[in-house]
Amino acid sequence: MQNPISGKESVIKAVGLSKEFRDFWNRPKAKAVNDIDFEVYEGEVLGLLGPNGSGKSTTIKMLLGLLYPTAGSITVFGESPRSVRTKMRIGYLPEESYLYKYLTAMETLDFFGALFNLSALERRSRSEQLLEMVGLSHVRNRPVGEFSKGMARRIGLAQAMINDPDLLILDEPTSGLDPIGCKEIKDLITFLQKRGKTVIVSSHLLGDVEDICNRVLILYGGIIRASGTLDELLTVSSSSRITTPLLEPGITERLVKILRDSLKGEQFVIDHPRRSLEDFFLDVVNKARSESVKTYGAEGGGEIAGYLKEESRDVLKDLMSGQKEKEPEMPRIEKAEGKEDDGAAKSRETIDKLVTHATEEKKQMPELKPPENREEVNKKLSHLVSKKDGKDR
Ligand SMILES: Nc1ncnc2c1ncn2[C@@H]1O[C@H](COP(=O)(O)OP(=O)(O)OP(=O)(O)O)[C@@H](O)[C@H]1O
Ligand SMILES: [Mg+2]
Repeated sequence: MQNPISGKESVIKAVGLSKEFRDFWNRPKAKAVNDIDFEVYEGEVLGLLGPNGSGKSTTIKMLLGLLYPTAGSITVFGESPRSVRTKMRIGYLPEESYLYKYLTAMETLDFFGALFNLSALERRSRSEQLLEMVGLSHVRNRPVGEFSKGMARRIGLAQAMINDPDLLILDEPTSGLDPIGCKEIKDLITFLQKRGKTVIVSSHLLGDVEDICNRVLILYGGIIRASGTLDELLTVSSSSRITTPLLEPGITERLVKILRDSLKGEQFVIDHPRRSLEDFFLDVVNKARSESVKTYGAEGGGEIAGYLKEESRDVLKDLMSGQKEKEPEMPRIEKAEGKEDDGAAKSRETIDKLVTHATEEKKQMPELKPPENREEVNKKLSHLVSKKDGKDR
């Protein structure tokens, strides 16, 4: 289905979606989500809002196929959220970080990359770019169990992006982050939206939602109480606002007179606009950074990971058809019949060296084998162990 106004494809469609939690005796405990209908379209950033316990996380878990709806239906990319094909296209940042505390930041990303069948080379390259992007490159070898809340949030976000997802679901992404981290996440979401990605954000920080979302759903008691674009919901059409450069006193006086005469006793306000506290805070911190003031905390994140900027490739299709990701094509220099001129021979040599180097580098990377090889690995291990035992005896 397409959006009748924007013509964009529907990514998520929920009809009569409900979730009731029951206790051991099957007695109703909580109606977390109560018969809601909604649709999310390609390239939208949707804010899922509501007070504590209003059903946001439950809705998200149903979108991810982690919880079964009690009633109603939900499709993601036209399929069940449980389909592997759908899951491959989703990135998820949970409300609480579920990280293996003994893995380092680098190992964590490598582990999640392996779940998406990325090659060792691709995993390393993406992990490095993501760590740089979320400002954790300098702590790449520290176990994530030691991370502060905000640092854990940053690595969680990096993990959600490792598969370059088409749909990103972020449950309270800015919770625990410092204002710089919040700003970086907001910039990243806006950037991803420009690349046509769809993002769902649940958050209590309404200022952040206002900055990035096109549309919001407000839940209360598991029911959608309001939904629409921010312009539809927030524009106060009964008032006008004019912003001008600083007015000279003479002009202000004349303006006040005109307004008094025309508004006939109605109240009006002329004042100076205020900067947002976020802008001011960022200025203060950036100044400290430019003066190289020492910190032991998170550094500002770097550039957006390069692979996230690339035009979307059909990695998914390759994965689904069981093919390996294609090796990058090296430029070929055709050999002229009979002999090759000097320049061409040198270029060929350089290219051959590059190819050999890349292949060797790939060989050195520890490759996570698919489960079919487990038996073979076990055999080799028992063989090694029995040999060692024989020696030791
Ligand atoms: N596993 C569960 N078992 C029982 N009840 C649950 C479970 N998960 C959620 N609930 C209940 O469902 C309701 C909605 O919870 P949910 O976590 O979806 O809220 P939320 O909007 O995400 O809240 P918050 O803003 O606090 O994160 C609450 O009453 C909660 O107690
Ligand atoms: Mg929640």
